[in-house]
Amino acid sequence: MHRILAAILIGAAVAVAPAAPALALDDGLALTPPMGFNDWNAFGCDVSEELIEQTADLFVSEGLSDAGYTYVNIDDCWALKDRDPATGRLVPDPAKFPSGIAGTAAYVHGKGLKLGIYGDAGTNTCAGYPGSLGHETLDAQTFADWGVDYLKYDNCYNQSDGTQADYVRRYSAMRDAIAATGRPIVFSICEWGTTQPWTWGADVGHLWRTTGDISDNWPSLRGIIAANAPLYPYAGPGHWNDPDMLEIGNGGLTPAENRTHMSMWAMMAAPLIIGTDLRSASPETLAILTNRSVIEIDQDRLGQAGKVVSDANGLMVLDKPLASGEHAIALYNSTDALATVGTTLGGTHPWRLQDVWTGAVTQARSHVEAAVPAHGTVVYKVRPIRDPGPIAPSVTVGGAIGTVTPAAGIPLTTTVTNRGVGPLGDVSVSVGAPAGWIVTAATSARARSLATDKSLVTTWTVTAPATVTAGSYPLTLSTSYTWSGRRRSSTASTLMASVVTPPPGGTRYLSTVRAADFTNASGPIELDQSNGGAAPGDGNLITIGGHVYTRGLGASAPSSIRYYLGGECSTLTTDVGVDDTSPDGAADFAIYADGVAVATASVTAGAAPQSLTADLTGAAWLLLSTTGTGNADWAAPVLTCGEAGPVQPVERTLFSFEAGTDGFGIANADGGGSVEPTTAFHTDGAAGLLVHTPVNGNWFGRALDAPLDLTGTSGLKFDMRVETAGSVGEIAVQVGDAFTWCQGGQWTWLNPGDSRTISRSFDEISCPSGTTLDKADIRAVWVYLNTGGNVAIDNVRAE
Ligand code: GAL
Repeated sequence: MHRILAAILIGAAVAVAPAAPALALDDGLALTPPMGFNDWNAFGCDVSEELIEQTADLFVSEGLSDAGYTYVNIDDCWALKDRDPATGRLVPDPAKFPSGIAGTAAYVHGKGLKLGIYGDAGTNTCAGYPGSLGHETLDAQTFADWGVDYLKYDNCYNQSDGTQADYVRRYSAMRDAIAATGRPIVFSICEWGTTQPWTWGADVGHLWRTTGDISDNWPSLRGIIAANAPLYPYAGPGHWNDPDMLEIGNGGLTPAENRTHMSMWAMMAAPLIIGTDLRSASPETLAILTNRSVIEIDQDRLGQAGKVVSDANGLMVLDKPLASGEHAIALYNSTDALATVGTTLGGTHPWRLQDVWTGAVTQARSHVEAAVPAHGTVVYKVRPIRDPGPIAPSVTVGGAIGTVTPAAGIPLTTTVTNRGVGPLGDVSVSVGAPAGWIVTAATSARARSLATDKSLVTTWTVTAPATVTAGSYPLTLSTSYTWSGRRRSSTASTLMASVVTPPPGGTRYLSTVRAADFTNASGPIELDQSNGGAAPGDGNLITIGGHVYTRGLGASAPSSIRYYLGGECSTLTTDVGVDDTSPDGAADFAIYADGVAVATASVTAGAAPQSLTADLTGAAWLLLSTTGTGNADWAAPVLTCGEAGPVQPVERTLFSFEAGTDGFGIANADGGGSVEPTTAFHTDGAAGLLVHTPVNGNWFGRALDAPLDLTGTSGLKFDMRVETAGSVGEIAVQVGDAFTWCQGGQWTWLNPGDSRTISRSFDEISCPSGTTLDKADIRAVWVYLNTGGNVAIDNVRAE
């Protein structure tokens, strides 16, 4: 059976990387991908012995260790900033690890688990703690002495000339130092895929990161899958591609995305390193992380990563051969709509398909297929069978619909396909819609019979009520049919229909109006910032020819953004220009009302912004288009619908720093730091505040002479630019006269030069138990900054 299966998976041609080097460390470690926990994704620098030990406890009590999770790993920030002056050894921070790493390791070992630690192949770790470059022998021995079982070895401050040879040399030095200790230690190479570590990592470490850091959002997950999946030839027992730690449970992914994360990591034979706070993980999170069928695929002893059988139009099929002779087939839909994904399995026998998430078993003649929700993945375990017997046929029902607007007939197409052995009889399809919606079939919704690999395609008209509100609405596509003579079954899928409605009356920034759809050269259209990379929210303050804007849309040309106006709007005024982050850009801007260009401009990089006014009277649709290259900004765009009024949302500036520091200072004087006025960074006005932050952080802000009443506002915002270092921050307000502190809303970014509007809702700020955030009685406003470097702030405001 194994022989047949290996030969018959057929798919579209994909770029296949050259064969992997055969060498491996051959030390018997990591024969299947490592499974464990690492604190970084959920806690950043906030690691401690208590957290590691509680996590070890939960590994046992929550069944994670039974499911295969073994390594409890400490990431950056566990050490003191200085080595022991006498011995030169790394020193665990006694405040975070009162029992040291040795004591923590002993505790973790006592639970039958293993302990991991973090180091760096440079002079410092990424968070500025001592690195191991030039100290490899002593540090490896120190780790071994402490009982460490796993070392993640990072790449910050690497002093490198950037050549692959230098990377191999720095990482091999630590490999050799570990080997010399004689202690089995899994060696995790973390150089972010910079020098194609998959081509050299197998005889240096047990796993190597293939990409930059994962973050807790869909574009990051999608980007990492796209980068890591094609590297399948390089993975094998003892040497694995590492697409980074899991974000499952951290809140930024939908349930379907979390299952895709787990499914695709298993299919790619990736390490399963949990990155969430297990102390507060939900039952849903734990169920995904401990799904035995999916873990079995990841941990299969054959150790082959899934081959990319096809990858087109955002739909990917992976095929992972298993030691049992079966194959795991993943059908992955990275698009934003329901899609039917499949591949042809050849052979003379029919196939048994087992859905590893639902357990459902079906049979297929020769094509494995599923209607997969947006961002979802269906994984089947498949094997050939002689006789399908009483197994139900694989029948899929898919569909597609355009953007829905109130009281307009929108076409929908449904497709029912029989992939099973033998014909289906008496096939019908129906569409379930929310109350008040009208769905009518325009072509036949029935078929007397449907042969193998034949489809019933039906077109429908879907009309949402005139009173529908904007949002995403489920349409249930169902089919029922008889098979094997008399048995009757049904299959259903959910198609999400997106409804857009005209903006409310009044005058408002366009960045607060929901777009119907968009196209963009890179990443999403950013709101109130310029375009960055693939992830949402990774741009900077919109800046055109040195003019900074806190409101607008950050596009990347060529781009288009559509809004439904429903004939209710009159004008759009906006500045346009090439963002200063694109020094070579040149873009043409055009505003279309129902397909007619009503305002245009051509702008090159560095030029001053141009102002456009567009008459939109009576238009159903507004289209903002850019062509050319570079980050193209729609700056301070203001749309008027119905009756004009003050521009919404209204902000109230609390401190503008135009006349100096506005009383801002340091909270804890002995913690260091200072403030001074600056004209080098400002948004509105001509001046801002420059904050010199101490390495260990401090609070900056002021106590107020009289209680400040922020009733009716929902949060605080200010504009910030990181001048010389990365920054982690949070905000705090003091409420009432009893010195009650409410604080939170942590943010982080790492690149010097980044600028952003920090916007934190009061909901993100927590108060001591028993107290509430009384917005009418604010006594002080503080910002916490932890970096060591200069950070500029302007225009602290309430909205
Ligand atoms: C990065 C690494 C992350 C995390 C961080 C700690 O370089 O990729 O996974 O370890 O450093 O500072």
